Amino acid sequence: MRRKKHLDERLSAAGDILHVLESREFYKLSKEEKTSLFDLSRLFGNENPVEAEIGCGRGKFIAKTAARFPEKNFIAVEKLSNVIVGAAEKAKAAGLKNVVFLNLSAENADCFLPAHSLDRIYLNFPCPYPKNTYANRRLTSPRFLALYRELLGPEGEIWFKTDAARLFEYSLESFTANGFAVKNVSLDLHKSGFAENIATEYEEKFVLYGKPIFRLEAYIAP
Ligand SMILES: C[S@@+](CC[C@H](N)C(=O)[O-])C[C@H]1O[C@@H](n2cnc3c(N)ncnc32)[C@H](O)[C@@H]1O
Repeated sequence: MRRKKHLDERLSAAGDILHVLESREFYKLSKEEKTSLFDLSRLFGNENPVEAEIGCGRGKFIAKTAARFPEKNFIAVEKLSNVIVGAAEKAKAAGLKNVVFLNLSAENADCFLPAHSLDRIYLNFPCPYPKNTYANRRLTSPRFLALYRELLGPEGEIWFKTDAARLFEYSLESFTANGFAVKNVSLDLHKSGFAENIATEYEEKFVLYGKPIFRLEAYIAP
């Protein structure tokens, strides 16, 4: 109980950049009311392009990305409240004004984010769910790709990285079978010379172990 109380206090202290969704009161709202809560120009105070990371974990990537691109806005989605709270606290302490954290399961992101509002979605080292029985939990499974199509603008793209070869193979097929095309495919990102790369927490660990990182960019097929 004390741990939960402590977590609740931290969540509410980070409240100006961290939105804890999926509570009962949110689900009583209509879809219009939910998405109007996330009028993105009001939320960020400008009309800058918006990008999102799904499954931001401890938030190192999104904090580095938001600091590098102050002319863009960022949304970080993470389902675990005890994980996202630390990410939001760090971003707040760093004074980042262009990032907002949503404690939410990605499955429900379209309840809150306006359609076609995102320029780019980052999927960084999503859980691979190797058993086929859990394939629909993979963040590159068809139901998630349909959701991303709804959230992305017409020129929108998905930047995907993983260390899991089987997930990468599955995702290549899933993207191309579900209305996306892929480009800039790399089977060893850190040897590919891609200078724009911003490493995530998981990525730093895998690179230390000498594991190759797989990467691709997906865009809505013409
Ligand atoms: C393996 S970690 C990677 C964290 C970070 N992206 C990185 O590369 O360091 C995957 C994260 O995605 C989150 N996650 C998994 N499924 C999710 C979902 N459906 N909605 C939101 N977050 C999810 C997990 O809770 C976990 O924090």
